Amino acid sequence: MAPKGERWNHNLHYHRVILDAVPSGCESALDVGCGEGTLARQLRRLVPHVTGIDLDQASIDLARRNPDTGDVDYIDGDFLTHRFEPALFDLVASVASLHHMEAGPALERMRDLLRPGGVLAVVGLARAEYPADLPLDLTAAVVSRMRRLSRGWWEHPSPVAWPPPETFHGMEDLAAAILPGVRYRRHLLWRYSLVWVKNS
Ligand SMILES: C[S@@+](CC[C@H](N)C(=O)[O-])C[C@H]1O[C@@H](n2cnc3c(N)ncnc32)[C@H](O)[C@@H]1O
Repeated sequence: MAPKGERWNHNLHYHRVILDAVPSGCESALDVGCGEGTLARQLRRLVPHVTGIDLDQASIDLARRNPDTGDVDYIDGDFLTHRFEPALFDLVASVASLHHMEAGPALERMRDLLRPGGVLAVVGLARAEYPADLPLDLTAAVVSRMRRLSRGWWEHPSPVAWPPPETFHGMEDLAAAILPGVRYRRHLLWRYSLVWVKNS
């Protein structure tokens, strides 16, 4: 959760899931669909080499111009086709971006870019299923409203995709098939997370 005084939205709220998943000794991290770079900058405080990739040029320009960007390396490109070396990263992370891509190939690419012992950490959006999800959504709406009143709301400047193509159950099943033993969690504010360690 973002500390009081920091900007807030439903994605920032769950950055802690990613930051807590950084493996010890992590040397290199990739933020997939980094937008204007908030997560990449947070990761850079923990990881010596951080790369952010986004296919939206305006977002990458904002990320590069941020006064706190430091030595984060930004790539203006498509994660699915950009030529990375295989097994390059100790952490591959993504917040609110996976539903912009075909999820299966994107998860496979994230997995393949990890070194043995590396961690994949995703916070994602998925489609609710009604009426089963109605009680959760109503609770989320109340909690979100209260948080907005106390914390304000920061609208990120990057492209959005809505509705997400996959349901929460669909994402859970897909992730389990591609990432055996993955930890899937459904979160209150319309998000799920995946944390997976690549076996040595
Ligand atoms: C909703 S924004 C989230 C941005 C940021 N992660 C955040 O939490 O604020 C989704 C981002 O994913 C990027 N994106 C979508 N498909 C992509 C792809 N194939 N490769 C790289 N970035 C992609 C979009 O350009 C957009 O900036």
